[in-house]
Amino acid sequence: MAAVVLDNLTKTFRDFLGRRRVRALDGLCLSVHKGEVFGLLGPNGSGKSTAFKICVGLLRPDAGQARILDHAPGSLAARMATGYLPEESTLLPHLTARETLRLLGALSGLTRQECARRADALLERLGLKEAGARRVKGFSKGMQRRLGVAGVLMADPQVFILDEPTSGLDPLGARDMKQLILELAGKGKTIIISSHLLGEIENVCHRVAFLNQGRLLRQGTLDELLREQGVHELRVSPADPGAVAALENLARERGLRIEKSGVPLKTLESFYVDVLGKRAGEP
Ligand SMILES: Nc1ncnc2c1ncn2[C@@H]1O[C@H](COP(=O)(O)OP(=O)(O)OP(=O)(O)O)[C@@H](O)[C@H]1O
Ligand SMILES: [Mg+2]
Repeated sequence: MAAVVLDNLTKTFRDFLGRRRVRALDGLCLSVHKGEVFGLLGPNGSGKSTAFKICVGLLRPDAGQARILDHAPGSLAARMATGYLPEESTLLPHLTARETLRLLGALSGLTRQECARRADALLERLGLKEAGARRVKGFSKGMQRRLGVAGVLMADPQVFILDEPTSGLDPLGARDMKQLILELAGKGKTIIISSHLLGEIENVCHRVAFLNQGRLLRQGTLDELLREQGVHELRVSPADPGAVAALENLARERGLRIEKSGVPLKTLESFYVDVLGKRAGEP
């Protein structure tokens, strides 16, 4: 069964006189399977956040409908099943991080003990252990994002709708977030994320969809969409120059064109992780 279905979603924003202004979604259809990590990609203003807001019942579509585990968005059953991280932080500035999580836990029906236990575990998991007693108003953007994600995790929902979860995170934080998303997927949770950082989507999503002007352009698995046809990449070690030259000669004899051969570069991300390593206190 699909966990999240968007069926012909259409949404036009109008000004206060009712004049047509912007068509944010234009017949969007998507179906996200249970246990899937699904990425929604597209330029600024393409309708990603609007689609998410419809899924959680914050906006009503003009036409079409969304279903969460076959429940109507905004219904109690849908709200209980869904964890939503909005694009902008919606944290209360005067609460501490720990109080924020306990409050969110209490609102979702957890007992006092469960609230305290889960809040501490999540502060630790999201790298906020030391900041648990600090007020949110002093938090950096990335710390607020981490706390927002911890808040979504308090209720342990089935479906996660995360609007740019890595925005404002440093590369180690972004790596942690990817790890967390994969852990959630491993527990059978369904996760829909949007991000402009394509490297992040690439490492975690099973499928992605491309939106433009509220319309679906393409969707598919990363393998389907990104596989280059007609080429093969071979990586060998150790880098023995004689053996490599022999391999290249063999390739030429067999009529292959060598498009690339040389010492590969690490990505800047993996180098950053090597240099700055894990956070202080991590084993
Ligand atoms: N409340 C609103 N009132 C008027 N127009 C809106 C409103 N919310 C969104 N829009 C418009 O709808 C379109 C889609 O916006 P949306 O926020 O869904 O895009 P997005 O894909 O999430 O963009 P970004 O990548 O910048 O977050 C934009 O043109 C935006 O200006
Ligand atoms: Mg958005």
